[in-house]
Amino acid sequence: MPQTLSVIKADVGGWVGHSAMHPEVLDAGREALVAAVQSGLLIDGHASSCGDDLFLVMSHERGENDEDVHRLAWDTFQAGTEVAQKLHLYGAGQDLLVDAFSGNIRGAGPGSAELEFEERPSEPVIVFMADKTSSGAFNLPFYKMFADPFNTVGLVIAEPLHQGFAFEVHDIKENRKIVLNAPDEIYDLLVFIGSPNRYPLKRVVSRLSGEVGGVSSTDKLSLIAGRYVGKDDPAAIVRCQGDFPAVGEVLEPFTTAWTVEGFMRGSHHGPLMPVALADAQPSRFDGPPRICAIGFQIADGKLGGPRDMFDDPSFDNARAEANQVADYLRKHGPFEPHRLPLDEMEYTTMPAVAAMLEDRWAALE
Ligand code: F6R
Ligand code: MG
Ligand code: MG
Repeated sequence: MPQTLSVIKADVGGWVGHSAMHPEVLDAGREALVAAVQSGLLIDGHASSCGDDLFLVMSHERGENDEDVHRLAWDTFQAGTEVAQKLHLYGAGQDLLVDAFSGNIRGAGPGSAELEFEERPSEPVIVFMADKTSSGAFNLPFYKMFADPFNTVGLVIAEPLHQGFAFEVHDIKENRKIVLNAPDEIYDLLVFIGSPNRYPLKRVVSRLSGEVGGVSSTDKLSLIAGRYVGKDDPAAIVRCQGDFPAVGEVLEPFTTAWTVEGFMRGSHHGPLMPVALADAQPSRFDGPPRICAIGFQIADGKLGGPRDMFDDPSFDNARAEANQVADYLRKHGPFEPHRLPLDEMEYTTMPAVAAMLEDRWAALE
C-alpha cells in the first residue's frame, strides 16, 4: 500500500507580534494529530513550528489531496485560531482566507506539500519549514541538491543518481506547469527557476525510477487573497539516500545563507538562516528569514523522529554569514535591492502617495 506524507502549514497567530508560536497553539496542533491517529485517519502525525507558522506533518495511506486529511488540517488550524483568539495573539487566523472548508485546502490559504511513495526498507525523509520568506525559496536549494554535482557528488559517482532528475516548474501567473530534465536541460531550467517569485519548483522526480524525491509548497497567499495577507512561509519534503541525494547532500545547500524574498513586511530581500528549532524565532527586523529541517526515519508509516538537523555547529558559518548579510542589507534601509522592486513588495503606499502628488509633477524641459 503506498503511503503519503502530507505537510500542511498555516500562520494562525503570532507570539509576540509575528515572531514565534505560542506553546498553547502548538499543543492544540499536537492534540488534534494525536486524536487523528487514535481515530485511524492518520498512521502518525507530528506538529512543529518555525517562527509564527504551524506545520502539521501527517503520515497516512489516503493519497494526496485527500478530503479527510485536508479537513483535519483545516479543523486543526481553526482550533489553533481559537487558542490564538483567546490569548489575543497577533494576527489570529491570518492565513485562513475562506469562511468554510470546501473539500481541499489548496486555495484556502494554508500551504501544502504532499508526497506519495512506496516505503523503502529504510526511508529517511527531511521536512523543511521556513518562515518570513516566500514559496520560491526552495528553487535554489533544490537545484543544488538534485542537479549540482559540486553540491551532490552522488550525481557523479553514484549509479542510481547518475541519470539525473526531472524538475516540475510552476508558472503561478499563467497557472500552468512544465517538466524539464537535468542535466540535459539545465540551461533552460535555470531561465525559469532563477526567477523563483514567478516560477517556483513544485516537484523533483528520479529519472531512473520515476519516484518523487522532493516536493515543496507553492501556494502564494497574495495571489489567493488578491492582496497582502502575509508571506507564504513554505514547506518542503525531501526523501534521502539510495536513489536520492544523501542526507548530507540534502542539507549541504544550506551552508550558504541564500538571499530570499521576505523579511520585514514581506517586502525585502534577506538571507535565509538555517537554524535549530530553538532558534526559529525571527525577531530582528522580523527576520532574518529562517529555515528548520526536521528529519524522520519512517518505519511502516510511523514517523521515527524528529531529529533537529540544523542543530549542528557545522551550520554556524552559514548563520554568521546570514548575520553579516543582514547587517549589510539593512544599511540600505528603504532602498533597493534590500527593499523589493515596486511590483513585488507586499506593502506599498505608492498608489496613495502618487495620487496625492499627481498635481506636483512637471514635464521635463
Ligand atoms: C512578514 C511579516 C511581518 C509583518 C510586520 C507588520 O511576513 O509577517 O514582517 O509584515 O510585522 O505586520 P502588521 O502589518 O500585521 O502590523
Ligand atoms: Mg504572522
Ligand atoms: Mg510566518
